[in-house]
Parts: sequence; C-alpha cells; structure tokens
Amino acid sequence: MAVAVENRAELSQGLADFIEQWRGKPGNLIMVLHKTQEEYGYVPEPVAREVARRLRVPDAQVFGVLTFYNYFNLEPPGKHRIAVCMGTACYLKGAGSILEDLSDHLNVAVNAVTEDMQFSLQAVRCIGCCGLAPAVLMNDEVVGKLSIEKMRETLEPYKDGDGGSGDAAAS
Ligand code: FES
Repeated sequence: MAVAVENRAELSQGLADFIEQWRGKPGNLIMVLHKTQEEYGYVPEPVAREVARRLRVPDAQVFGVLTFYNYFNLEPPGKHRIAVCMGTACYLKGAGSILEDLSDHLNVAVNAVTEDMQFSLQAVRCIGCCGLAPAVLMNDEVVGKLSIEKMRETLEPYKDGDGGSGDAAAS
C-alpha cells in the first residue's frame, strides 16, 4: 500500500479531521465539499484532489459533484456577491435585462468574477422574495423592486470599498 503523502494541498487541521470523521460514511463527499467551501470560500482544485485522495474516491467523482451543483465554486469569489434572481416572478419583471446590464456594466460574464476580483455575478433560482420581484441578493442582503437604474445605484457604494451600509434592503 502506498504511504499517504501529507500536505499535497494545504488543509487546515479542522478540515483534515472532518474528512477523517466522515470517511466511509454515506453522503460524505457532499459534506466534506460543503465544509471545504465554508473554509476557503470556494473549492480550490488542489484541495478537491486532496479531498478525493483522502476519501479514496476518484477525482472525476469529486469534480462531477462540484460541477453538477451550482452551489460550489471552483474559482475564488469576488469581494462582493451579486446574485440576480432568475426565478419566474423576477424573470417576468425584467431580471434578464438587469443581469445583462450588470454583465455589460461590470464587464464580467454571468457566473464569473470581475478582473479586479471585486464582484461575483451570478444568476440564481428563486430566492424566496417573489413579492419584491425583480430581486437581487447583494452580499446576502435582499434588494428588491429593482430597475436597471436602481441596480446601478445600489452598486455604487460597493465599488469604492466595503459598501453595503445595510440600507440596501428593500421594503
Ligand atoms: S422569483 Fe425571484 S424571488 Fe422568487
């Protein structure tokens, strides 16, 4: 048997222990990948390979799960996350145009990160605030009843620094 090579990827002790704890248990791959994303903010490729090695599953299985679920990110996220709801209610009220405008305005593809790493732009399913359609999650804060103009205004404070003074939630 090959001797395990430690530290192929930098794993925290917490993550290494978590993997040990879940090894061989049903559903362990998803649990471990959740934990990994929680720690890194995304799932770095070398870490995904290390997870596969430690759980003794093929790399392809791990990457299959990572690419199947939108929840997992293989790239580092931007400093600010803009998640545009593309659920039916939002879509019917113009979410597509808002998403398109954001993509043009920030010069970033959908489900990608701006070059300066400031913004992640995502299209997501219903975020549960259909009464506020069209709605967007801005760093997990709901901003609703949007128009292209209001979306751009909402974005402004985030461009210069941390943004998100907490006044963005729609009522
Ligand atoms: S469809 Fe957008 S919040 Fe439900």
